[in-house]
Amino acid sequence: MMDLSALPDDFLWGAATAAYQIEGAVNEDGRAPSIWDTFSHTPGKVDNGDTGDVACDHYRRWPEDLALAGQLGLDAYRFSIAWPRVVPLADGVVNRAGLDFYDRLTDALLAAGITPFPTLYHWDLPQAQQDRGGWAVRDTALRFADYADVVASRLGDRITHWATLNEPLCSAWIGHLDGTMAPGLTDLTTAVRASYHLHLGHGLAVQALRAAVPGAQIGIVNNLSPIEPASSSAADRAAAVRADGHINRWWLDPVFGRGYPEDMVKLYGVELPVEEGDLELIGAPLDWIGLNYYFRQFVADDPTAPAPGFRQVRGPNAEHTAMDWEVHGPGLEQLILRLGKEYGARKIYVTENGSAYQDTVTADGTVHDPERTVYFEQHLAACARAVAQGAPLAGYFAWSLLDNFEWAYGYDKRFGLIHVDYETQRRTVKTSGHRYAELIRNHRAR
Ligand code: IFM
Repeated sequence: MMDLSALPDDFLWGAATAAYQIEGAVNEDGRAPSIWDTFSHTPGKVDNGDTGDVACDHYRRWPEDLALAGQLGLDAYRFSIAWPRVVPLADGVVNRAGLDFYDRLTDALLAAGITPFPTLYHWDLPQAQQDRGGWAVRDTALRFADYADVVASRLGDRITHWATLNEPLCSAWIGHLDGTMAPGLTDLTTAVRASYHLHLGHGLAVQALRAAVPGAQIGIVNNLSPIEPASSSAADRAAAVRADGHINRWWLDPVFGRGYPEDMVKLYGVELPVEEGDLELIGAPLDWIGLNYYFRQFVADDPTAPAPGFRQVRGPNAEHTAMDWEVHGPGLEQLILRLGKEYGARKIYVTENGSAYQDTVTADGTVHDPERTVYFEQHLAACARAVAQGAPLAGYFAWSLLDNFEWAYGYDKRFGLIHVDYETQRRTVKTSGHRYAELIRNHRAR
């Protein structure tokens, strides 16, 4: 029996999306291409040749989507702001029409009693910035802070909660080392430099937000995984330590003011382009930390793999999602506790958690998704267990409000509480969405 009784009365129930995954309208109102437009239009990079050109057409259909968020009873909506709509080119000129879109969205959310929870960067770097070196160069961090200031100056009178970056691990490691996400590079030195400049951009954006928004509640969103060795061999256990450094500590230590983990700096062998005052900026105190959790990772030593020399192996649980990600609720509890105990986080939000399954619309027009429903229940129960042990967990955002463009996997992988028929753009609340709404109602009524 699922027990959510430990969740605090003011627990924030939300759902999340990201601009390039839902908005479409890539050529509207002065938006310029992002690295994801370039990447998705490069043959062979995305399954089925899918692109975000239309996606969920949210740029036009947002009133309907917000109405659905209201029907679910959400307290908060986490969305991302598209840098290429707001400052589309490298000349720094602000595109008012792009900002207007988020202005309207903000007002509508507030009118519906839903707290806006924007993220400034969810991977859609303006292509013009990439052409000047992208995250591999320091200037991009400075331009990011300028953009943060523009957004905060326009929306900061109404928005309190801000996230700087979403999952910088993916931008740096997947985008610049594995090459399976934009900008599709495969170079360790570039990847390490990108990771550093992402952090610097975060630190500078925090500074800009604090200056523009008195009382701002600012955080960063990291995707983390508990790491297990594939076997008890010394080599696999050592690989697990390296994997923890690569996946978790590299992304947490600097933003908690601890600098970069020495073992990893040594292992990468890439000199970090640190200038005076950078590490203090990167490690400046935050109001909250965002945790995106999907699965734990089992790793085996693999000297043939690129640094840091490990490969992922399949987890032992029988159950896996359509992404082939192991379903393991206790991993979420473990990570929440780790953030509290090891890092001293004062406030934590689960900023994403969810699962992809093959959903079908039945003849009567419903979408029955029992696996996703159970996934949410198990992971919310894990949240409650962490709270019962004292973790300062303040809210949970389901990924995702809508089915959407799942990056290199295109539209086949569906994570939504709400099904989207991409032919007709018809939205259908799935069984999991109804269940999520029920859990929210129950929580409020208790
Ligand atoms: O869709 C992504 C999201 O953009 C970032 N976090 C993980 C999700 C599922 O892969």
